[in-house]
Amino acid sequence: MQEVQVSSRFALTQGDPRAHLDDFATAVAEGLSRPQKSLPCRFLYDEVGSELFEEICDLPEYYLTRTEHALLERRADEIAALLPNPVALAELGSGSSSKTRLLIDALLRRQSALRYVPVDISRTALEDAARSLLSDYDALQVHAIADEYTAGLHHVHAETERPLVIAWLGSNVGNFERSAAAGFLAGVWGQLEARDRLLIGIDLRKDADALEQAYDDAAGVTARFNLNLLGRINRELGGHFDLDRFAHRAVYRVEEGRVELGIHSLEDQEVEIAALDSVAKFEKDEMIHTEDSYKYSLEEIDTLAAASGFEVERRWLDPAGAYSLNLLA
Ligand code: TRP
Repeated sequence: MQEVQVSSRFALTQGDPRAHLDDFATAVAEGLSRPQKSLPCRFLYDEVGSELFEEICDLPEYYLTRTEHALLERRADEIAALLPNPVALAELGSGSSSKTRLLIDALLRRQSALRYVPVDISRTALEDAARSLLSDYDALQVHAIADEYTAGLHHVHAETERPLVIAWLGSNVGNFERSAAAGFLAGVWGQLEARDRLLIGIDLRKDADALEQAYDDAAGVTARFNLNLLGRINRELGGHFDLDRFAHRAVYRVEEGRVELGIHSLEDQEVEIAALDSVAKFEKDEMIHTEDSYKYSLEEIDTLAAASGFEVERRWLDPAGAYSLNLLA
């Protein structure tokens, strides 16, 4: 763990990247040796992946980012009015922080200075975001934390001023299995005090076509994002994956309410991974599961909040009812 004070208004705490690399090797070895192969989704966001994800956010099919942006644009002042004044702002999975600007604007309309604590797995995303925020907002102080959610939350708890609002946008909660989401939120709840709040963006259940298109766009950006996991194994672990022999898949399961994302082997093949000293075997049509994206009904959001100790204080939907912002207390 290393904290660097980059300037008077910017500090960065870096989790141990070495631990992360070992972690990647172990996860790949484990995930590819299971009968049902899988790779954990947190490894999608290396530098290449984080950039591709920013491209996904601008795709016409990927309504999530646009809808959440519009909701925040309309509701940021209303949200701010429900928060303690002054408040510090933390964010889980902050990425480029572009939607967060709407919240920062609203908070700075009612308080003179703001401490912002973004947590993201991608250090470069954090540095780029901080640079651009600090040049646009004189009243902002940024302490970025380059780590995974759980470790990051720990820092958030230890280091920020109180009271605190934690933003968790982009429906990233949907990437947890439902009971794990409740478990994770219970952990967040345990880090908060009574006046603190959690602002969480959650994508809603809707028809399968819209969902499958959102996760399999015509321009193929999502496919490149998903397949980058194999590219990353090539770069970091000496893998020999030929990305043309695999394909991206997105299937919505109505009953489970989740989009299942995976990488599909187009043929029988064997792939050497030098750093693991192993050969991964794939059958034609075999799937490597990479991520699930759970969708919620309003009742399911209430249940999730209650199961983790929170209650939904306010909820905002877009006019079409595609997406929700929820203020949890
Ligand atoms: N949090 C995003 C979501 O569930 C992540 C995501 C978008 C994603 N598109 C993807 C993950 C494609 C894997 C593959 O909406």
